[in-house]
Amino acid sequence: MRLFGTLQLNAALAVVAFALGGACFGARTIHAQSPQLTIADKQGSRTYSKRDLLSNPRLQDISIGHDPVYRGPKTYRALPMAELLKGVTAGHDEYFQVRATDNYSASIPAPLLKPAVKPDTEAFLAIENPSGAWPAIPGKTGNAGPFYIVWQSTGAPVPRTYWVYRVAAFSVTDSPYKRFPKLGIRDALPASSPVWRGRDRFVALCMGCHRFNGDGEGESGPDLGRPMNPVEYLQLSAHKALIRNPSSVRTWPGQKMPGFDESQLSDADLDAIIAWLTYKKQSG
Ligand code: HEC
Repeated sequence: MRLFGTLQLNAALAVVAFALGGACFGARTIHAQSPQLTIADKQGSRTYSKRDLLSNPRLQDISIGHDPVYRGPKTYRALPMAELLKGVTAGHDEYFQVRATDNYSASIPAPLLKPAVKPDTEAFLAIENPSGAWPAIPGKTGNAGPFYIVWQSTGAPVPRTYWVYRVAAFSVTDSPYKRFPKLGIRDALPASSPVWRGRDRFVALCMGCHRFNGDGEGESGPDLGRPMNPVEYLQLSAHKALIRNPSSVRTWPGQKMPGFDESQLSDADLDAIIAWLTYKKQSG
């Protein structure tokens, strides 16, 4: 029975691999059971096996002072994202949509992942090495592998939402503001209005999991625009507490949303996100 199950699974994986193989450039051996990474720009896509990535000569050991997912210092075998994205065309106002196998889906500005000049913030793709399996992520089932975006920064800290683990695919897309009309701000608000900043933080920090009025790619949290926007049913103090630390408001074993402390989201930015949600509630 068990053997039969395994054979069925292998057959299913082979079908998936075949479908992916059909979409990639040139002839490439497909390892049905090995994890794959797909990278697409507007011209086409390319699929890499873990073995391809581990044999890249630019693979290196890197140290991370504080890994926000593993909550401490770490070292990884990793490829510079700039190397991985070498042949990929991405405009400076475009984004990479990064999709993970657990339905998380982050929009990261293209110049951050593929900078034109040597940046003070550099992204790497950490690759789990067969000789050193990664531990489970604290508080979760399973680890960050096989592919995990990590950052080295001498400048401003990179939002934790850009430390995408279990990465399956990168694709070049238009900016979320172009793709998702429901994020639109119709009124001529002054540039100093916190609504703009709030929308920007909402896209960077929240949309990996939450959609807004149906727009977005996040699938792991509820839509924060419809049927009701949280500003309609959460008191301001409870709303802020929930974003800072969800379990200070409600708690249950399957709870998933991570909290955002001051190092991730300043008080002013927290107020700005709520200003944005309030604006959208009022302006429709
Ligand atoms: C990694 C995924 C993830 C991210 C990132 C995330 N959330 Fe959540 N959020 C969830 C999930 C999942 C829930 C449902 C409750 C749970 O399982 O924790 C939730 C619930 C909520 C709720 C409660 C809705 C309700 O009616 O109960 C609010 C409000 C909320 N999130 C706001 C935010 C805001 C604002 C941000 C960005 C600053 C954010 N979330 C970022 C996953 C996420």
